[in-house]
Amino acid sequence: MEKSGNIQMPSGLTPPLDRELDPFILTVFGASGDLTAKKLMPALYHLYLQEGMPKDFIILGCSRTPLSRESFLYQMHEAVRLHGRADMYRWTDFASRLYYFGLHYDDLGNFRDLAQFLRDLDQRHRMQGNRLFYLAVPAPLVPVIAANLGGSGLSREFEEGTGWARLLVEKPFGHDLESARELNRLLLGSFKENQIFRLDHYLAKETVQNILMFRFANAIFEPIWNRQYIEAVTITAAETIGIEKRAGYYEQAGVLRDMFQNHLMQLLALSALEPPALFQGTQVQDEKTKVFRSLQPFPVDEWPGSLVLGQYGPGLMDGEPVRGYREEPGVAPDSLTPTFGALRIFLDNWRWQGVPFTLVSGKRLAEKRTEIVVRFKSIPYSMFREVIREPLPANRLTLGIQPEEIVTLQFQAKKPGPVPELQSVTMVFDYRAGSGAPLDAYEKVLLACLQGDHLLFWRQDGLELCWAFLTPILKACETCTFRSERLQIYPAGSGGPEAAGRLGAESGGRRIDDR
Ligand code: BG6
Repeated sequence: MEKSGNIQMPSGLTPPLDRELDPFILTVFGASGDLTAKKLMPALYHLYLQEGMPKDFIILGCSRTPLSRESFLYQMHEAVRLHGRADMYRWTDFASRLYYFGLHYDDLGNFRDLAQFLRDLDQRHRMQGNRLFYLAVPAPLVPVIAANLGGSGLSREFEEGTGWARLLVEKPFGHDLESARELNRLLLGSFKENQIFRLDHYLAKETVQNILMFRFANAIFEPIWNRQYIEAVTITAAETIGIEKRAGYYEQAGVLRDMFQNHLMQLLALSALEPPALFQGTQVQDEKTKVFRSLQPFPVDEWPGSLVLGQYGPGLMDGEPVRGYREEPGVAPDSLTPTFGALRIFLDNWRWQGVPFTLVSGKRLAEKRTEIVVRFKSIPYSMFREVIREPLPANRLTLGIQPEEIVTLQFQAKKPGPVPELQSVTMVFDYRAGSGAPLDAYEKVLLACLQGDHLLFWRQDGLELCWAFLTPILKACETCTFRSERLQIYPAGSGGPEAAGRLGAESGGRRIDDR
């Protein structure tokens, strides 16, 4: 469909009204927390306004805080009003579907009471036994809640096709390979793999979903999407924010666990995978798993050649002084936790042999930018060498994910005028000029989970393969004798450590501060 020079893009997911959703009860554990207030409840309300909910649904908030239903409704109203992006005109009807149940997460008896409460709600409102459990709780509580859901029979599904039970969990999915396996063992003690939805909000970003459409809905890119034509790929997720109020979590995680093990690995997989047979959860997951299986073991003994780690020091953001990581509340004054990483990796397969993929992410950088830059090989020979002496820049395709949702292709063209001169020009497709459904990432994952679609989630095999790749790297960095010397302090508001600029430049990326 032509639309003023732009192609009308599909939203990436089935639009809300196209598929009928089963009635359901969504139980949110951690209902009095930040995630529920800032993301989840606004997303649910917005979905509801967009007709993205079935006619019958109930949301049950659960947490350790004793609360009356009225107080819970008031809190949720305020949360949506403050953090949502929608008018409150249908709040009263939405709120009539909200309930609250206080419980102790480690008390199986409380979960049996919860099961009874859910049965009553189900019968009263005819929800057909469909249950979705959202764990918006700190990581240590996840196995406890999952076990009690199992122990109280709430994770059980009925045979007739209705009466499903699903578990939605957020990262971190473990701290290393061993803990990820252990977490999975615990989850699988109560739920089957196909009942578990491991959320990665990057997969729900429009432009991330567009990667597969861009690659496989066009005939012109796939033939050159390989080592013969591509020199290097750089995947960047640069952030301007610091660690905000998450020192407790971040000190333990660092940038490699926080951004690489999940979001960047997903971007890598989508950029590198072979064409799946169908645009469906299992098929896409299978192809991603093959990419993760091809990760070339990292040269851990010589890691500084392929990995640069940094930490932000004090600096200036938008002209305002900001503190360094070690001065953030809750951070140890001698902390060696990296807030920046640039990692060069290779894939051992026919398509990508020898092509460097550089993954870069950091906090408190000059600008917020997430993108995938594909640098093609230079021309083999320049017939213009007599008139243009410099080497001609290679073509570059950029898939901009945020804040600019754009696809750009850079190529050479004649500069208008009497003298033969070339210039680099850029062809741009601005994603926002298309007309997609304006759902945000949380709305999309909720919708996908309600549809039972695993496309936007991690599967355990992929997760373990990524941990198997990253765990030795983490171990090498965290036990290195020169850990402190190798952690490069960069000023907040800069482009990150100098060495990372070099690593990135070798791979054809753009420096963070290169505007
Ligand atoms: C989260 C990380 O998963 O992703 C955060 O824990 C990070 O540290 C965030 O800031 C980035 O997400 P986005 O969508 O802003 O790129």
